[in-house]
Amino acid sequence: MAEENVLLCEQLSHIYANGVQALANINLSISQGEYVAFVGQNGSGKTTLVKHFNGLLKPTQGKVLVFGESTQDKKVSYLSRRVGYVFQNPDDMLFCSSVGEEIAYGPRMLGFDQGEIDTRVQKILTELDLESQREIHPFALSLGDRQRLAVACALSLDPQVFVFDEPTTGQDYFGGKSIMMLIDQLHAKGKTIIIISHDMPLVAEHAKRVVVLNKGQIALDGTPETVFSYTEKLRQLSLRSPQVTLLAQELGLRDRTLLRVPQIVQWLEAEYLPSPKRIQGGQV
Ligand SMILES: Nc1ncnc2c1ncn2[C@@H]1O[C@H](COP(=O)(O)OP(=O)(O)OP(=O)(O)O)[C@@H](O)[C@H]1O
Ligand SMILES: [Mg+2]
Repeated sequence: MAEENVLLCEQLSHIYANGVQALANINLSISQGEYVAFVGQNGSGKTTLVKHFNGLLKPTQGKVLVFGESTQDKKVSYLSRRVGYVFQNPDDMLFCSSVGEEIAYGPRMLGFDQGEIDTRVQKILTELDLESQREIHPFALSLGDRQRLAVACALSLDPQVFVFDEPTTGQDYFGGKSIMMLIDQLHAKGKTIIIISHDMPLVAEHAKRVVVLNKGQIALDGTPETVFSYTEKLRQLSLRSPQVTLLAQELGLRDRTLLRVPQIVQWLEAEYLPSPKRIQGGQV
């Protein structure tokens, strides 16, 4: 089960009605429980790609399979039970007259009974700290809270796969941290997580796999350690490895890639500081 493909793209291309080719021949598989980040410069096709995962867009060529089923003739409402999608701009997915109604909308559309809807809404309001805003109009919320409401709506259907398109948009430092903590918790519960982000340190800290898109094609695909070791290639694609990675490279580390501050601190201590033993022994 752990290795089951939840998403499969086979020679997926997408050409918009205006003739723009946003995706070209994408082959990709994502297994259950993976934590994947899509990165790439503006216009590289990230949003177009993930919109294929819940049927918002259909391939103009090739196939997308969700849990083994082609999305071609499936409705968004059907696919949303399995793939929850949080839009890049939360305002594109909010349209009810109160926060509580907004969260209840998905389960209601899918015919859940009222008791189940109430339980789900209550649990999510508490989990996302939106309880005090239950009766408020979504557009009266700050952008950060609207983003959390969009996450709440995705949670309401308890899908197996979550897609977060720039989940920390509009968040201050702590808001961003709390959303990423929530996403990490979903992953720890066995959910498959897909995020899109321009924030490379965030990607390095959270994702277990990084897929780099460039002009609608996959340019790199691997662990964060592998992908962020391609400093020069990333630079050519207008992307930058995390500062920590670049600093370690500048300082001469060649045999591995560091991604996080504690790793570089540990390496520098081991490399440059005398060991406590030697200090105690009075040899320094
Ligand atoms: N609805 C649309 N109609 C026509 N062209 C579109 C549409 N949406 C996106 N495009 C074009 O498709 C290409 C890929 O866009 P997409 O939004 O998928 O990129 P992205 O990687 O998500 O970019 P960003 O980082 O800015 O969000 C771009 O050239 C964009 O202009
Ligand atoms: Mg986008």
